[in-house]
This record gives sequence, C-alpha cells and structure tokens, in this order.
Amino acid sequence: MTFKPAQWPRKLRSQEWYGGTSRDNIYHRGWLKNQGYPHDLFDGRPVIGILNTWSDLTPCNGHLRELAEKVKAGVWEAGGFPVEVPVFSASENTFRPTAMMYRNLAAMAVEEQMRAQPIDGAVLLVGCDKTTPSLMMGAASTDIPSIVVTGGPMLNGWFRGERVGSGTALWQMSEDIKAGKMSQDDFLDAEQAMSRSSGTCNTMGTASTMASMAEALGMALSGNATIPGVDARRRVMAQITGRRIVQMVKDDLKPSDIMTKQAFENAIRVNGAIGGSTNALIHLLAIAGRVGVDLTLDDWDRLGRDVPTIVNLMPSGKYLMEEFFYAGGLPVVLKRLGEAGMLHKDALTVSGAGVWDEVKDAVNWNEDVILPVEKALTQSGGIAVLKGNLAPSGAVLKPSAATPELMQHRGRAVVFEDIDDYKARINDDALDIDETCVMVLKNCGPRGYPGMSEVGNMGLPPKVLKKGITDMVRISDARMSGTAYGTVILHTAPEAAAGGPLAIVQTGDMIEIDVAGRRIHLDLTDEEIAVRLADWTAPEVPAVNGGYTRLYHDAVEGADTGADFSFLKGCRGNEVPRDSH
Ligand code: FES
Repeated sequence: MTFKPAQWPRKLRSQEWYGGTSRDNIYHRGWLKNQGYPHDLFDGRPVIGILNTWSDLTPCNGHLRELAEKVKAGVWEAGGFPVEVPVFSASENTFRPTAMMYRNLAAMAVEEQMRAQPIDGAVLLVGCDKTTPSLMMGAASTDIPSIVVTGGPMLNGWFRGERVGSGTALWQMSEDIKAGKMSQDDFLDAEQAMSRSSGTCNTMGTASTMASMAEALGMALSGNATIPGVDARRRVMAQITGRRIVQMVKDDLKPSDIMTKQAFENAIRVNGAIGGSTNALIHLLAIAGRVGVDLTLDDWDRLGRDVPTIVNLMPSGKYLMEEFFYAGGLPVVLKRLGEAGMLHKDALTVSGAGVWDEVKDAVNWNEDVILPVEKALTQSGGIAVLKGNLAPSGAVLKPSAATPELMQHRGRAVVFEDIDDYKARINDDALDIDETCVMVLKNCGPRGYPGMSEVGNMGLPPKVLKKGITDMVRISDARMSGTAYGTVILHTAPEAAAGGPLAIVQTGDMIEIDVAGRRIHLDLTDEEIAVRLADWTAPEVPAVNGGYTRLYHDAVEGADTGADFSFLKGCRGNEVPRDSH
C-alpha cells in the first residue's frame, strides 16, 4: 500500500465545464441553475455522479432511488455537489435472452457517461447481478474515483416453515414438479414467499457474490455486501459512502490504485470462502482487463484450490444472506483469510486504509453460518478450472455446489446441439439416457447463444429424476445462475460456435472428468478430433439480425478472458475534447 493522497485544493475536471466566465462555462452552469442551484456550488467542489441503476423493471434495484437520497445527503455533508445520473440497468429477471448480453453495453454506456459529463467522482449504485460488474468496468475504464454501494439482499424467504432461497428454491421446486414431488398449486403458493422485500437475491447467487467481490476488491466500504436492502443500516451505509467519495476525489484515490493484482487475488480467495458464483470469474476477468491487471483462469484455479468454503449459504449450504449479515458478514471471512495467510493485508481500499485494518476486529457471531475450517462445506472451495482436449482454454466447475461422487466420472455423452434441441428432447421418455451419462449442451457460449445464457445447469430428464436421482454430470459452454447447483461444467472454451472441440462431440462418445486432477477428456484421438473439426461448419445464429446483437456477436471474446468486447479492454482515462458550441 503506497498510496499518497493528492494535494488539495486543486482544479478538478468539472471545472472545465463550470469554472470560469467563458461563453461555454456560462452555458453549462446556467442550464444547471434551472434546477435552483446557487452560484457558490460551482466553486470547484467535487461534483459527484450518483450512477443509479434503479428501474421499475429491475426490481432488485427498485429501492435505489431512496438510497440515492442518502448518498446525496452524505455528499452534501462532506462539501460535495451530488448529481444523480440514471444509467443502463440490466435486470437479471427481465432481460431476454439474458442480462449478460447487455453487460458490455451497460459498461460502455457508463464509461461514456462518466467521461462526457462533469463528474469528478462516482458512486456506483448497483445490486442485480450485471449492474455491479458493468458499472465497475465502466468506472475502471475512465479511472475516475469511484465507490460501490449495493442495494443489499432481500430478507429471508420462508414457505411452510422452510427457508426459500432466491433462484435455488425455484430450480429445486421445478425439479420436484417433474419428479412428481410437488404440485403446481403449491409452486404458485411459494411464488410470493420467494421475494418478500426489496433487495437482491438472498442466496449466495451472483448479486451477493458480486457485492462481496466489490468489497473484497476494496471498492466498497467494509461491511457493505451483506446488509439487507431494507435494514436501516443499508441507508447509513449509503450516506457514509456519499461522504467518503468526496474525500476520495480530494485525495485522487482512483480505481487503478485499488484494483491491483493483489486486490484481485484477495477477491478470488474470498470467492472460494463464500462459495461464490461462477459468474464472478467472468466478471472479474473483465474488470481486470479494464484496469490492465493480468488476471487469468489459472489464477482462479491456483488461488482458490485450497480455500475452504466456510460460508454456509445456499446454494452450497443452508442459510441466506440475512443470516450471513447477522453473523458478522464479509469482514469475518476476510479476517479468517488473513489469519490463514491467504490475504494481502495491505491491499488498499476505498477507505484509504488497507483491508486488514478494516477487518482485524471482526467477530463471528454464529459459527453455524460462518463455519470453523474443520466444518467447512468443502476444503477445496474456489472454482476448479479443468483443461483437456475437450476444453483446451479451460472449463469451470464449482466444487462446493457439486456432488463429490461425481467429481471423478466417465460416462457416455448424450449431446444436445443447442438449447432448442435440449428442450425438444429432454422430457421424452424414449431418450436413451440414464444417470451415468454425461449431458452435453453446445452452442450456448458468448457467441453461440449471444450473451451466454445461464442454461448450463440444464434440468435432468424426468425419467432419471423419478428414480430419486438429483444430479448428473453436465457439460456446456453456457453459464449457470449463481443460485444453481450440481456437477455442472461450464464456460467450456473455446466455445462450440467458435469451433472449439465441444462442437464435434457426438452422442455415444465417452467423456472423462477428474476434478481433483483438473482434467476433462474426450475419449478420441487427436486425429479423430481433427477430422471431425475439418468437417465442422459454424452454426447459423438466427438471433443475430443486425444492431447490437451483431456487434455483440462479432466483438465478444471468450469466457476464458471475461467475455468483454475486444475494443473495450483497457483504461482510456477521462480526458475529453472540449465542447463544440
Ligand atoms: Fe436480480 Fe437476483 S435477479 S439480484
């Protein structure tokens, strides 16, 4: 930690718009004054953009306008000038085919909004899965001082005396219906129990994981990730975040000062300890690409391999985010990693202090929620990266959500050429499949199913479910919801639509996986694979019919490097040409 605060006072970038007496200055300042701002607010104080992903159609972020008011109060208190700016809000539960297709669009829009406007510092007001990485990517590419405050998770769901975890319960109940264990009426009754307050998914799904990643990276104040969306302390967090960003601007504490390689290494270890979503891997690779940190899939495997999963939350465990908060939240996890020698303690955070200073006094109030190491859900948490002739650039699996007995397995492939093929045949009792088979789904990667939908945890065939079987090995180039579970191998790269070996797997081929050995193998010779690949032609992707989908299809990179657009990688800074009035 070598950060040296900048001298204050000094001229900020907003003064290019507001400071002075030129015609352009009067133009910019005068227009803003139509909102009733007094002249002395334009005296060179930090202008703080509150980048708000609120939308009626992003219900997970539905309460962010209220939080924005608290952020504003904090900014005013600290002597800043807050301006609330609506930004692209990619809702996980609304956007089709998947919010992931719009992560890069949102990141691009946020970057341009930050650079093109008189913003000296930004509060990234986020929550639902893609809103967090997209704003962090945009902020990283401008390197304008920025701080994250998330909306916080929903309260626990309860249905007939049982916890209902967002997403996790939905997957479980829909499998129970196929297996004849639950009625459709009961399923409808459970619907309202799943989402009983404002906030993001209450499981350790992607939203909670990304909130944890923001905190572990040092980009949010300590304790931010777990406070429930409706807890008064969430509003307090928003207000003190507003105060803090003003000082960050004065100090010139930028994303590139905070998001160093050490910070990413801390975050990867935290992901293992919390049993975090596989989606975090793609998002952190993309964020790292924006700040110029060399982060790879191998880093994920190397750093996560010996991290025990100690947070007992669904989908890997039993509890929900509300209980994680009451147990002490993420600071306890960071403290435990620090005590185990698995934390770069000096890594700088938005507070201006190192991460260890923030967490060293944390207390675990519930050892059934944040487990002792000897009771960890798995001793080898993290995300396992498998490689082999079926995935030369890697494929990933979340051990804490998988079935231990299936992590070494050899089975006959049952191949679905795309998601429509899967849907057409999976419920057919004539399908030649049993629980020893390996389900293979192709053409669902970033290009093949533009956006890389979360279909990798494809449901099992009813005839297998009816035997009481709940898991099978599944392989695809798709993603999986952070709330899902199973022995599911994802992000196979190169993807099928880009001509990866996954494209040439046929029903009846034998596939071996060995998670401990990090191996995934298609039982064919190199020559046989080469012959089949020579015959392969890229599939038509009917959804690509111009516009943004065309841009996405043509520019998106592989999941193994973060699925960003090739032309968006890197930091382009915040210089902007003078206006042309
Ligand atoms: Fe928005 Fe889970 S669907 S947080």
